[in-house]
Amino acid sequence: MSIPIHTYDAVIVGAGLAGCAAALELQKAGKKVAVITKLHPLRSHSGAAQGGINAAFSDADSIELHEFDTVKGSDYLADQDTVEFMCKKAPETVRWVEQMGAVFSRTEDGKIAQRPFGGQSSPRACYAKDRTGLTLLQTIFEQALRYGVTFFDEWYAADLLYKDGKVHGIAAYDIKNSERAIFNAKAVMFATGGYARSFKINSNAHANTGDGLSLVARHGLPLEDMEFVQFHPSGLSGNGVLISEAARGEGGQLINSEGERFMTKYAPNAMELASRDVVARAIIQEIREGRGVGPRKDAVYINLVHLGKDLIMEKLPELRDLAITFLGLDMIKEPILISATAHYSMGGIPCDVDGHVRKNNTEFVEGFYAAGECACVSVHGANRLGANSVLEALLFGRHVGQSMAKDVDSIELRKATQSDADAMSKEFDWVITNNGTEKVPHLRHDLQQSMTDNAGVFRSEATLAKQLNHMKELKEKYKNIRIEDKSKIFNTELQEAIEFGHMLDYCTFIVQSALARKESRGAHYREDFPTRDDVNFLQHTMGYMDKDGNVNLEYMDVILGKHELKARTY
Ligand code: FUM
Repeated sequence: MSIPIHTYDAVIVGAGLAGCAAALELQKAGKKVAVITKLHPLRSHSGAAQGGINAAFSDADSIELHEFDTVKGSDYLADQDTVEFMCKKAPETVRWVEQMGAVFSRTEDGKIAQRPFGGQSSPRACYAKDRTGLTLLQTIFEQALRYGVTFFDEWYAADLLYKDGKVHGIAAYDIKNSERAIFNAKAVMFATGGYARSFKINSNAHANTGDGLSLVARHGLPLEDMEFVQFHPSGLSGNGVLISEAARGEGGQLINSEGERFMTKYAPNAMELASRDVVARAIIQEIREGRGVGPRKDAVYINLVHLGKDLIMEKLPELRDLAITFLGLDMIKEPILISATAHYSMGGIPCDVDGHVRKNNTEFVEGFYAAGECACVSVHGANRLGANSVLEALLFGRHVGQSMAKDVDSIELRKATQSDADAMSKEFDWVITNNGTEKVPHLRHDLQQSMTDNAGVFRSEATLAKQLNHMKELKEKYKNIRIEDKSKIFNTELQEAIEFGHMLDYCTFIVQSALARKESRGAHYREDFPTRDDVNFLQHTMGYMDKDGNVNLEYMDVILGKHELKARTY
């Protein structure tokens, strides 16, 4: 039976803030655009962003300070030209979404309210209580619908159509009934989000399995800076659900089992508002040294009681609900238990400021774009500042949509053929019919636990080498899986098996890149190389996967600028 071929000017994979913002711009420019998303757009993980979106608005702040904080936070690995672009455009981006109806929290005199966040010189995170991402996503999604963007909800993008340096669409199947289709386009954008589900304790939605990254890597295209995984300091103990940095921004204090406000030892000036990598390491260090709290002694307290009921109910109501629901602890009355949680991927699909995806250090792929967490436009370097991700997603989503709209008329459509669905069909049919003995949930649990143990907040040659070997065993076991559900309707067992294959691929990038980076920088902390080494490692990692699934590493220069390299202290 022939597979339908749908033709568009542009196809976007992912319907979070970046995907919806790009689609909106393309549609407004009169282009025919489709968004393919494995979730309903309002369930995209952008909606889980709680604390805020950065923009230097206030008199006490400046674009230059925002740039400086971002570059320092990145441990000097961010490209300073793209940081400058982002910080300059931040205020107009917030105004743009405000004018479309996003309801921000306000100051007494009616200005957009801003709160302090870690690593920032001034209160800069504009917020809507502790539901900022959801507020913005609802606004952008509504506008995309208003302008007539076509959404293919609950469709799974299973292959990127890439040949001879050019992308011409994607192959996808409908999760609702397993029907397959080809989406042929002049331009394709990936806005597929992050991958923290590959760690046991994480703040991410179930859907954040990083499929987009390995779809790219499987075609021999590079992934950049994959060793830099952000661990957010405050996930609820036991399950990692996000307790926003807003809790510390509003005055929350971190306390160990001895009642000590331990950040005095690690960041005596910034304290709880040091950058995330510093605070996350401090928490894990306290736990490792036996000063953890809770039934398993694997958490620390965050105390918010002194903020009082009124402030908590006004500014942090969602966080309070989460702690009550998952831990039975009411932050108005008592401290709650938190620990570091895998949260965000600084690395990803390398692209330039206009979203053009790199084929290598000097060339680009025709017709292929990326934005949001899956992309590495290198504004975060080795460590992202809180509230710069919502900014990145919205700002670059919008900007890359505009860049695609400009490019698309000069890109010739390469017509798709039926054989473009072959790789998708082969993978799909293999998962359905493979008759082995291994169960995907067991393998996934094993991967998540071992990534946490061996490639987590603290790493070393020994743990990373162990993880690499372990992943070879997991890849062998994956060849021997069997799923029980052979049906065509909402076959989530099939989808999870395909997603697990992706996790194995991009985790290989994380581990191999981390093994080769013999220094500590930002979120990448090597116990055997505890200091930053600018002589040998002030460079971006570019990994390429070969046909056997091994990752070969090359490096690319960091774009430096006016913010000079310094030791990073808080
Ligand atoms: O803590 C938070 O609200 C998360 C924000 C972010 O990751 O930018």
